[in-house]
Amino acid sequence: MKEAAGRAAVDALVKSGMKLGLGTGSTAIHAIRRVGELLAQGVLSNIKTFATSFQSEIECEKLGIPFFPLNSRELSGSLDLCIDGADEVDPQNRLIKGGGGALLIEKVAAYACAAFAITVDESKIVDTLGTGFPVPVEVIPEARLSAGKALEKLGALVTLREALRKAGPVITEHGNLILDIRFASPVDPVAMESEINRIPGVVENGFFTRIRPVVYIARSSGTVETRN
Ligand code: A5P
Repeated sequence: MKEAAGRAAVDALVKSGMKLGLGTGSTAIHAIRRVGELLAQGVLSNIKTFATSFQSEIECEKLGIPFFPLNSRELSGSLDLCIDGADEVDPQNRLIKGGGGALLIEKVAAYACAAFAITVDESKIVDTLGTGFPVPVEVIPEARLSAGKALEKLGALVTLREALRKAGPVITEHGNLILDIRFASPVDPVAMESEINRIPGVVENGFFTRIRPVVYIARSSGTVETRN
C-alpha cells in the first residue's frame, strides 16, 4: 500500500524541471524510488530535489537523484512540490508528522512549497488528531524538562523519545531532542500548532495544519484514492 501511494503521487504530480521536496519515512521512500526510476528511464529530467533527512539524502545518493541544500542557488528557498508521508490525516487533511523524527525540516519544506502531497496507507486516516499517534515536539536539549512541564500544562502526557540501538534519547538531525506528547481528548490542532511553538526551547511540533495537502490514500483493495 505504501508503495502504491508513493508511486501514484509521483506519476500524477512530478514533472521535468521541477524543484521537488522529498519526504522521510517508509512511505515517502517509495516516492523517492519512483522519481529515481523515472529519471533513470529518461521519463523525467532536470529535477532538482531537497531531501528532508539523512534517510532521504542517502536514498537520493544511491539512486543518483540530484539533491541540493534548500538555500542553494538551485533551489533558492522554495519548492514547486513536496511529497511526504504522514502519521495521521484528519478529515480536513490536517496532519501529524514526525514519527521518523524529521518533522523540523519536513515542515520547513512543506511550508515552502507551492504544492504539497501526502502519501499514506488507509491506516493513517483518523477522525481527530492528537489522541492516538503521539505528536512529536522537537526541543533544544536545555529545554527538556521546562518544555515538558509547559506541555503538561497544555494537558499533554509527555514522553522523551528514546533511541533504539543507542543508549539514551533520539538526537535529531539538528542535535535536538523529541518529546512525544498525547492528549486524553481531542484538541484543536490549529490552535495547538501555534500554542506549542510559543513554549521557550521548542523548535517545532508535528501538527501540520497551515498547508492542506492533496492526500493519496492507498486502500487494501489495491486502489489509490485522491483526497483534496
Ligand atoms: C518522518 O519524520 C515522518 O514525518 C514520516 O513522514 C511519517 O512518520 C510517516 O512515516 P511512515 O511513512 O514511515 O509511516
